[in-house]
Amino acid sequence: MTAQERTPAAPQGTAGWFDIGLPPQKQVLGFLYAKWAIGALRGLVEVRAFDALADGPRTVAEIAAATGAQEDPLYRVLRAVAAAGVLAEREDGRFELTERSAGLVDGAQDGIRDMFLFTSDPMLWRPYENVAHALRTGEPAFKAAFDTTFYEYTKANPASGAVFDRAMQQNSYPGTDAVFEGFDFGRFRRIADVGGGRGHFLVDLLRNNPGTTGVLADQEHTVAEAKPLFEEAGLLDRVEIVPTDFFTAVPSGCDAYFIKHTLHNWDNDKAELILRRIREAIGEDRDARLLIVENLLRGAGQWDIGKLIDVESLSVLGGRERSLAEWDRIAGAAGFALANEPVAGDIALLEYRPVTP
Ligand SMILES: C[S@@+](CC[C@H](N)C(=O)[O-])C[C@H]1O[C@@H](n2cnc3c(N)ncnc32)[C@H](O)[C@@H]1O
Repeated sequence: MTAQERTPAAPQGTAGWFDIGLPPQKQVLGFLYAKWAIGALRGLVEVRAFDALADGPRTVAEIAAATGAQEDPLYRVLRAVAAAGVLAEREDGRFELTERSAGLVDGAQDGIRDMFLFTSDPMLWRPYENVAHALRTGEPAFKAAFDTTFYEYTKANPASGAVFDRAMQQNSYPGTDAVFEGFDFGRFRRIADVGGGRGHFLVDLLRNNPGTTGVLADQEHTVAEAKPLFEEAGLLDRVEIVPTDFFTAVPSGCDAYFIKHTLHNWDNDKAELILRRIREAIGEDRDARLLIVENLLRGAGQWDIGKLIDVESLSVLGGRERSLAEWDRIAGAAGFALANEPVAGDIALLEYRPVTP
């Protein structure tokens, strides 16, 4: 069989990546387009070129004046980003935001500026220069690049920690919305959001479920920034903000323990330990529930964004994305049994009930 005959059809969702007008053996070069586009976009975000376009089309000279960038390089990068389909370059020479760039404006509704700055930040980028380190050693490439772990690094560098925490406030996607819309959180009296960041999701949960109170349990330096969000939403009287190290103890007294996009940051032993701490917090309350929200991996050969995020988990954090069987194994070891039928392939909510391990 020749290599050509072995080339599988591109899994659904990836076909466009290879549609670059090159023969099959050269098509992976298409991935480099992403590097060029990310660098160009990040430069424009950093000098606030998208912010300069927020009130309408502008000439390059006007954008240069607003951002302090030099006109010639600014024009070349704007032109590239327009060619990539993110900005519009008009016949009159002015540049204009499109729906794809509107989210990069600071403070945009449903924006992704902070998420883009975080995911393209050197602290997430440099580990990608050395995925081979993770392959050879099993250790996160982050460690080779920064000589520490991601969470120690963000703790020791408050500016980087703030980049991360701000990004987590924009960590919501159609898959997340579907999970929230399809699940009745109102059946719980008191919900803990474990590793809940600055409380972005708990605010939504409490707002949508007026009969419920909440506990925000995250690291001290992260929850230190949480109060204003609950204050603004008029929810301060329904939330308790508890600085927590979830490897040591998780606040008790809740009938739902929600943990979203957090366990995938840890290897199986550490994820199981966090679940054990939640199980200890639940104690004898058999009606309490553990609610895990994560990408749930599909089977072999299928398109799955979670399989790419898993490489990030491996390289940056030493964590992993998991299939249902893998979740059941670590949740089972911590004293939980599956209580719903989550669907693999996107973000899913896994509901577990406490059992005796
Ligand atoms: C990837 S973020 C997810 C945040 C949020 N749940 C979301 O979905 O956007 C993981 C969270 O775990 C928190 N975390 C990390 N180590 C922790 C620890 N030892 N104890 C408590 N929280 C911790 C981080 O501060 C961060 O907010």
